[in-house]
Amino acid sequence: MRWLVTGGAGYIGAHVVAALQEAAVECIVIDDLSTGRAARVPFGVPLLRADVRDGAAVREAFRRHRPDGVIHLAARKDVAESTAHPLRYYQDNLDGLRAVLAAVAATGTRSVLFSSSAAVYGTPRRSPVREQDATEPANAYGRTKLIGEWMLRDAAAGGGFRWAALRYFNVAGAAAPHLRDEGGSNLVPRLLRAAELGIPATVYGTDYPTADGTAVRDYVHVADIADAHVRAALALAADEVRDEVLNVGRGEGASVLQMIAAVGRALGRPLPYDEAPRRTGDPAAVVASPARIRARLGWRARHNLHAIVTSSIAEVAKAA
Ligand SMILES: NC(=O)c1ccc[n+]([C@@H]2O[C@H](COP(=O)([O-])OP(=O)(O)OC[C@H]3O[C@@H](n4cnc5c(N)ncnc54)[C@H](O)[C@@H]3O)[C@@H](O)[C@H]2O)c1
Repeated sequence: MRWLVTGGAGYIGAHVVAALQEAAVECIVIDDLSTGRAARVPFGVPLLRADVRDGAAVREAFRRHRPDGVIHLAARKDVAESTAHPLRYYQDNLDGLRAVLAAVAATGTRSVLFSSSAAVYGTPRRSPVREQDATEPANAYGRTKLIGEWMLRDAAAGGGFRWAALRYFNVAGAAAPHLRDEGGSNLVPRLLRAAELGIPATVYGTDYPTADGTAVRDYVHVADIADAHVRAALALAADEVRDEVLNVGRGEGASVLQMIAAVGRALGRPLPYDEAPRRTGDPAAVVASPARIRARLGWRARHNLHAIVTSSIAEVAKAA
C-alpha cells in the first residue's frame, strides 16, 4: 500500500510517516518546507518539495505515484497569526485542501484522511466534547478546519472517495530529537523554551471559569496521534470506515498551571511564570470524548501526561 502525506516534514507529519513505515505502508511526502524540515523525512521516503496550493504540481505527484490514499496535514496552525491574518489562513489552508481534492478526483484516489482540529468546537458547551456537538470555532484557524470538513463531505458526495477527519486536541511530546515540535506557539515547546532561556513562562488568562483560573486542554502524545493515522488509513483502505469525523484526545484535561507544574517536576526545579490577559479566541476548557475513535478504530491513548512532558524534555535535551 502507498500513501501520499502532505506536510510530512512537519512535526506531526514526520511522526505519521515514521508510524506508516513501521506498518509497512509506503509513503511519499509533499512539503514546501515552510515550517517543516527535510531532515525529519526518513531516508528512502521521496520528498517532493512543492506548495500544496500548486494544483498542477499536486496532480502530477498523484499521477506519478498513484497513491491508495492521501493524508493531508499541510497547513498553517498558529491561532494568534490566524486572527491577525485571517485571509492568509483561508487562502493557505483551503486552497491547499482544494488542490488535493481536485487531484483526488482527477486520479480516482480512493481515500482521504484530513487533519482537523479541536479548534472547530470553539468553546464547547459541554465537556468532554463529542463529535456531534455544536461546532462554533472562535478563530479563523478553527474556521478553516471546519470549512475543510465541509469541503471533504461535499467533494466526496460527488467524487466517490472515502474520507475521515481527525480532530486532534493538543498534540505534544516527541518520539525522537529530530522529530520534536519546534513551533513557537504550542504550550509545551513554549514552556521548555522559557526554561532553557531562564525566563518566566507567560500564562495567558488566569480568570477563566476553571478550577485554577487557567485554560484547560486535552494533551495527547504525538506518537498516539500517529497511531490514530495508521489505524484510520488502514480502515479507510479496507472500507471499514467512511465519512467519519473523529476526536483524537485522551479525554482528560490539564490546566496551564498543571502543565507548568508537570514541566517543573520533570525538570527538577519550579518553572517561574508571569500572568498576562487572555488571548482573543482562546476558550476556557476543551477536552475530548474519545469514545467514537475507540469504537471505530480501536484507538486509545497509550501515553499519559507524564510521558508527554518527559518525552518533550528528553528530546530537547538530546537535540541540544
Ligand atoms: N500541533 C497541534 O497541536 C495540532 C492540533 C490540531 C491540528 N493540527 C493540524 O495538524 C497539521 C500538522 O501540524 P503540525 O503541528 O505538524 O505543524 P507543522 O507546521 O510542524 O507542519 C505543517 C507542515 O506542512 C508544511 N506546509 C505548510 N503549508 C504548506 C503548503 N502550502 N504546501 C506544502 N507544505 C506546506 C510545512 O512545511 C510543515 O512541514 C496541521 O494541519 C495542523 O493544523 C495540529
